[in-house]
Amino acid sequence: MCGIVGYTGSREAAGILVAGLRRLEYRGYDSSGLATVDAGRLHIRKRAGRVRELENLIHRQPAQGSCGISHTRWATHGPASDTNAHPHLGGRLGTAGLALVHNGVIENHASLRRELEAEGFVFASETDSEVIAHLIARALEKTGDLFTAVQLVLPMLEGTYGLGVVSQAHPGLVVGARMGSPLVVGVGEGEHLLASDAAAVAPHTRQVVYLEDGEIVQLTPGKIEIAHRERGPVAPRIDRIDWHPDLAELGHHAHYMIKEIREQPMTLVDACRGRLSRRDATACLGGLNLSPRTLRKIRRIVLVGCGTSAHAALVGEYLIERIAHLPVEVEYASEFRYRNAPLDERTLVFVLSQSGETADALGALREANRRGHPTLAIVNTVGSTIAREARGGVYLHAGQEVGVASTKAFAAQVAVLALLALYLGRLRHLSFSDGLDIVDALESAPGLIEEALKVEPIVKSAAEQIATARTVLYLGRDLLHPVALEGALKLTEISYIPAHGYPTAEMKHGPIALVDRDSPCVFLAPRCSLYSKTLASIEEVRARGGHVITVGTEGDRVLPGLSNTFLPIPDAPEILLPLLAVIPLQLLAYHTALKLGRDIDKPRNLAKSVTVE
Ligand code: F6R
Repeated sequence: MCGIVGYTGSREAAGILVAGLRRLEYRGYDSSGLATVDAGRLHIRKRAGRVRELENLIHRQPAQGSCGISHTRWATHGPASDTNAHPHLGGRLGTAGLALVHNGVIENHASLRRELEAEGFVFASETDSEVIAHLIARALEKTGDLFTAVQLVLPMLEGTYGLGVVSQAHPGLVVGARMGSPLVVGVGEGEHLLASDAAAVAPHTRQVVYLEDGEIVQLTPGKIEIAHRERGPVAPRIDRIDWHPDLAELGHHAHYMIKEIREQPMTLVDACRGRLSRRDATACLGGLNLSPRTLRKIRRIVLVGCGTSAHAALVGEYLIERIAHLPVEVEYASEFRYRNAPLDERTLVFVLSQSGETADALGALREANRRGHPTLAIVNTVGSTIAREARGGVYLHAGQEVGVASTKAFAAQVAVLALLALYLGRLRHLSFSDGLDIVDALESAPGLIEEALKVEPIVKSAAEQIATARTVLYLGRDLLHPVALEGALKLTEISYIPAHGYPTAEMKHGPIALVDRDSPCVFLAPRCSLYSKTLASIEEVRARGGHVITVGTEGDRVLPGLSNTFLPIPDAPEILLPLLAVIPLQLLAYHTALKLGRDIDKPRNLAKSVTVE
């Protein structure tokens, strides 16, 4: 949510900054801007709209300089406009010589604004961020040193921030600061970068320093200096990025979303690689950093996440309860962090997050840690804040997910939760042969997903019907209830058609009121223990003239006759059904949005990685 890129070195900054913003654009994309410093002058360029608008502007009005900062925005305070776009200038009228970009939210901005206005500072934007620029400019008047000025201002701010600052009086210097919003330094030769996400620095260097909360950094082409707000100077800890930046290129696919949907067979291979043991009929999850002895004492599991990650957690609830016979609770992270949920030493808390930066998920992790409860993470982004702050966990290894609608991360989360269920089960009652069945099932998953993807041509015609729908109901039972929720979320977020997911049998307790020709019902009805009960629910919808789309097992002789459209998935062990049934639903959302001409990878109002509360 919002992206920051900064650069100082010997190359022209503007091109590097814009290329970096393009890599981060999926995080926030309503406006963008940059500031460069050249021969004691600041050049500011900003535009509402996508990064390409900024790029066009820079073609017409180049911004020289080999040092600068830039930003792509997801609006929190004030609508998307040229003036609300970052960077913001700091300084008294006519003397503004400082530019700032900010990710996060400043909660006490209104009182700070009043204070600054009373002193004669004039505000150009409606943002909370502009107060920080003026506060630093005011501190700079006194200290004359940008690094010190930023340090003086930070204690005045309540809320979260990732900051980048440049000043015309300090050519070649970029100052950054972090509290609750990620920042990483790219360590180059004779140049340094600052970014909110390692993806922006990866094309330039593999060496990075992840800043911690409370740290402030000053970068010049030849030097990195870090200080902690309370603890003083900090030696830079250099990490290596071990993934390749080109992996996230679009290739021949029309959108990242469809690319990532089609990648899911490989996602399963990567999530399970080296983690399945046929010899012991179990999973190997060394990253949990917990001994089998400790794990055997666990009596309850809490899974915490937001959005799609919460839906994957719900699948995990069914899997862990079924395979390991442990009670599981799933909580929205935003609720968990403010609830006084009872936790004891026999409870294991997992935070699930693709990005590893979601503010609510991070808040939940910190709340559990604060209460002295060791918390684990199931995360995709290596080196992300949640990954670093958790006491242990499991990486998804799904590669970078760029499409705002999460798809392959869901598959990887479900796979990892199945591995966890297997591991916990085998530490308890699960027999060798039952364990081996699960190993076999997981090993067969990539091939089955490949098969399931063949449904795409039929999905395209179903999308014609969905595109004109007033509302869509998604219905699934047992392990497929969370998949129904996920299907509804996917459709809503990228096509803007209202969709609702329910456990199938709940339909008659209310949602059935929506059933008519213009409000299709998508039933998840593959062959499983509750198959015949689902058929009865389908009949109830048909009896009311409803439009029925079904996801069922290939070769089913009954379902096609009950459906306006039948979407087949391959026959598979029950624990794999969520991974297979979600495929037609992801494709249905994609093709419906495509028909409606939606901006699929960057749906309105959304952003990847929600780093504000
Ligand atoms: C939906 C979607 C969101 C995210 C949610 C959590 O397609 O992408 O609902 O799942 O914002 O994000 P992470 O998993 O990064 O914490």
